[in-house]
Parts: sequence; C-alpha cells; structure tokens
Amino acid sequence: MTSDSLRFLTGITTTGTPHLGNYVGAIRPTVQASRRPGTENFYFLADYHALIKCDEPARIQRSTLEIAACWLAAGLDPEQVFFYRQSDIPEIPELTWLLTCVTGKGLLNRAHAYKASVDKNQAAGADPDTDVTAGLFMYPVLMAADIILFNAQRVPVGRDQIQHIEMARDIAQSFNHLYGPHFTLPQAVIDEAVATLPGLDGRKMSKSYDNTIGLFTPPAQMRKQIASIVTDSRAPGEPKDTEGSALFQIYQAFASPEETEQLRKYYAEGIAWGEAKNLLFERIDREIAPMRERYEAMVNNPAEVERILLRGAEKARERSRPFIARLREAVGLRSLARSGAAAPEKKASKADLPVFKQYREADGRHYFKLVDASGNLLLQSQGFDSPREAGQAVARLRDQGLPALADMGPQVQRPHTVSENELSTQLSRLRQPD
Ligand code: TRP
Repeated sequence: MTSDSLRFLTGITTTGTPHLGNYVGAIRPTVQASRRPGTENFYFLADYHALIKCDEPARIQRSTLEIAACWLAAGLDPEQVFFYRQSDIPEIPELTWLLTCVTGKGLLNRAHAYKASVDKNQAAGADPDTDVTAGLFMYPVLMAADIILFNAQRVPVGRDQIQHIEMARDIAQSFNHLYGPHFTLPQAVIDEAVATLPGLDGRKMSKSYDNTIGLFTPPAQMRKQIASIVTDSRAPGEPKDTEGSALFQIYQAFASPEETEQLRKYYAEGIAWGEAKNLLFERIDREIAPMRERYEAMVNNPAEVERILLRGAEKARERSRPFIARLREAVGLRSLARSGAAAPEKKASKADLPVFKQYREADGRHYFKLVDASGNLLLQSQGFDSPREAGQAVARLRDQGLPALADMGPQVQRPHTVSENELSTQLSRLRQPD
C-alpha cells in the first residue's frame, strides 16, 4: 500500500442490529470496493456517534459486535483494509477538539439533523433546545475528525450524509487556512447503483421507522417479516405493477438482471403476492445463507472480533499518531523545552491578510472585490453608483463580517469555489487588531 493510492473511508453508527438496508446500502458495496487495486479503505464502527443517539450501554456493545461480525461475514478482509472501532482511536476525539476551535457555530446551526430537532421543538411550542444535546450539535465536527484524521479523499455515504461531508470540507479548509495545508478536502461518493432499500411499509428501510428486515434473523422469522411487506390487494391472476412495489425493489437489490426480468414477467402474468414473497425469501436466503454461519461463529466468539478490531486500531494508529503529533505542533501545543517558547512569532503578518480593492470600470460604475494574500478572489461586488456607496459596503463587511453579506443580496457575491466558512474566517481576520 502506498500513500499515492486513493483513500476511501466510511463508518456505520452502532445503534442497531444490521438489516437488509444496511447490507445492500453499506456493507455489501464496501466489501466489494475494498478489493479495488490502487485504493486504501478505512472502515469503522462509529460508536462515539452511537452515544449521541443511544443511552443503552448494552445495546451499543451488542450492536458494535453485530455490525463488525456482519462486515467480516460479508467477506471483509481485515488484513486488506483498515478496520477499526472509532473509540479505539484516541486521536479522533483529540482532533475533534482542535477542529471545534476553528468551526463557526453558525456552520453547525445549519446542520440538517440539529435544525430538524429545533424545528420540531418550535412547532410544538417548546424551548428550541429541548432534548438537544451538545453531542447532536457537535455531530458534524466529530464526523469531520473521523474523515480528515486519515486524509480520506473519498467518503461513500447515503444522500442524507452529503451535508456532513461538505461541512468536513469547510472545517478542514478553516484549519488549513489558519495553520497550513494539513488536510485533504474530502468528497462524498454517492453510488447511484447502490439501492436505497424500501422497508416493510414502503418507506426507506430504517431503524427509525421500525420497518426493517433483519439481515441474520433466523429463516423462519425472515419469512414472516417478508410476508408482512405491504402490497396492494390484487388477487392471484390479476397483473401487478412493479412500479412502486417494495417487494419488487428489494428483489431487484439481490437478483441478477435476468432474474429481475423474470419476476417482472411473473408480475405481468398475475403472480399471487404470497408466491412472490416466497421467491423473494428464497433469493435473499441464497445470498445470506452462506454468510449466516460465519456471522454466528463471529457473534459467538466476541473475543476474536475484539482481537481483530484492536489490531485494526493499531494499524490505523500507525497513521493517526504521527499525524496528530504534527497537528499539535501546528497549533502550538508544543514542548516548552524547545526553541521558540521564549519569543513567539507574530501571528499572521499584515502581508498575509486579505485585502479589499476598490476600482472603477469602463461602465463608469464603482466596484470592489476582496482577494486573499495569494490573489484568489473571495468576494466580488456589482457596480455601485458612487465610490461612497462602495466604500460603505466595504466598511460594513470589515466591521460585521459575514452577517453583513447576507443583507447585501446579489450586489456582493462569493464565488462558488470559496466556502462560507472560509470567507467568514478571512473576514474575521480583518477585524482582529494586530
Ligand atoms: N454519520 C454516518 C451515518 O449515520 C456514520 C459516520 C460517522 C460516518 N462517521 C463517519 C460516515 C465518517 C462516513 C464517514 O451514516
């Protein structure tokens, strides 16, 4: 493995028992992806994240075992990848704090999950922060630390996680800006071919909807669960729609294209729902049965899973330990015995600060732009009628920073290449007395 290979990283939160949706959406694709040459793959059990959603210790422990066993049973080779438990990597919470200190609170205010809780409280007429922990608020920072501690370039996730990856980029950028280019900016990878599985009731299969089919539930029970998938009331012999049929979609996620075509024909010919459900059970069981034995063996030998995870953590820490040492150094958490302690270097000299430039164009109007020390455009105005108006806008941006920009509307624009967080950091540097 070389450092020029592309690094992929993804985690699964350990709050539940693995279900078919986890398998199709995360476990199976990551196991397949782990075999691609030229890549390094970091897969982990996000148990710190689990604490945000779950306060049942036994459940966290059990879920960690089950999800680890599931990954291994599905064929993950711990020798080929970095396979570890988040809480075995102390550099993750350490980095979380370093990142916390460069993350705008306003950025976190906008996180979907946090906002949803606040909106719900407000709709109920409750205090906006009712039952909102600081853990929920900090979720995106912990996730950013997971990702950028290993400088992962690609993060395979579901659509609901895209905002978190964007925030990780913003946070990495803020840190880089202040302390030098330590972090690679990660990108989300959304695999269109990976199905989002519908659950028993037709909505997305998810623990939170209580509509899941367990991946390794005993066959008899899986049959029962499959029997409870919602269908319409068409009788045997009546043609059925594949469109919008949860049963059909789940089948498709396990079947070859030929098998799927066959089921489509059966639908058109009026297959009885009971019969279709039998076909679905058999198709899933064909894929799962060989894994079930390995899964049971793992779950019944937790000490072995523990050993594998601890080894994985050791391997991952060979990367994270030296890296966090460099980061500590970069922010100034340094030995006092070394030179530099007596005479601190001046913080960012004036030459590093961004500058506002005001100018007049051929159209006779007055413009300004903000450029950073390397000449990159950070803000661009439209034309103002007078230099005074342009100057006033500049003054407000200097004094108030980002909030002033919101009031200026399309008159002053941030290029797409510059994140809001980056701009906010740059503007706030102009406010600090030197
Ligand atoms: N938040 C992710 C989820 O709920 C799990 C997760 C935690 C994760 N840390 C991560 C995913 C880092 C990718 C990268 O699905």
